[in-house]
Amino acid sequence: MRLPKAGTIEIVPSVLAADIGHLAAEVAEVEAAGVKMIQFDIMDGHFVPNISFGPPIVAALRPHSLLAFDVQLMISEPHKYVERFVDAGADHVTFHIETVSDPLELVDELHKMGVTAGVALNPETDVMHIVDVAPYCELVLVMTVHPGFGGQAFLPETAEKVRLVRELVGPATRVQVDGGITPETVPQVVRQGADTLVAGTAIFRHKDRAAAIDELRRTAEKAVGNLTYAR
Ligand code: DX5
Repeated sequence: MRLPKAGTIEIVPSVLAADIGHLAAEVAEVEAAGVKMIQFDIMDGHFVPNISFGPPIVAALRPHSLLAFDVQLMISEPHKYVERFVDAGADHVTFHIETVSDPLELVDELHKMGVTAGVALNPETDVMHIVDVAPYCELVLVMTVHPGFGGQAFLPETAEKVRLVRELVGPATRVQVDGGITPETVPQVVRQGADTLVAGTAIFRHKDRAAAIDELRRTAEKAVGNLTYAR
């Protein structure tokens, strides 16, 4: 399963909020609910103040799912680890612009490994830092919270950054948002151009995951009707 082509709204469950003790079953539940991709938050306790998963978790889940595995590397020196995540079964890898000195080289490496590439920027990072690399990426991730933990409140000021990123990349690149994404905050980002919506708490902490995913999707598709950018 590859990263879905831009132009559709995709709801992306973030497994950081799932019951890790039953991860395969949690993933099967959201897969049955119709999502096309899931996100793995990889944290190293250095770039962000938390430690989460490594390649073994991705590899353990790979045989149990047909979903596109979206790996977000919130780690320093990501170039040292991308091959292990690709070998483990990642279909898409996003690195943080704040962690690399030569992003174009890393995007080229990812493409040579046969996966799609994404670049992420933190709330405090200016869009100008991705101007050169964004055109070569299949996805740009605008963090809507400071990375490191699930369950944080959405930062409203990041919606403007979504608009700037959409203007920068045009309609053929996915614009992903991550952090505090709920039915209440979805319209703010979709109206500015986001089409790939990562949610942890809003999905996995809901007793009916299929209903939670459906509500996020319906809210987003309703907001798409009032788009402020040309598709
Ligand atoms: C935070 C992670 C997010 C987080 C989303 O650093 O990148 O993916 O898990 O969780 P919620 O939806 O709970 O904010």
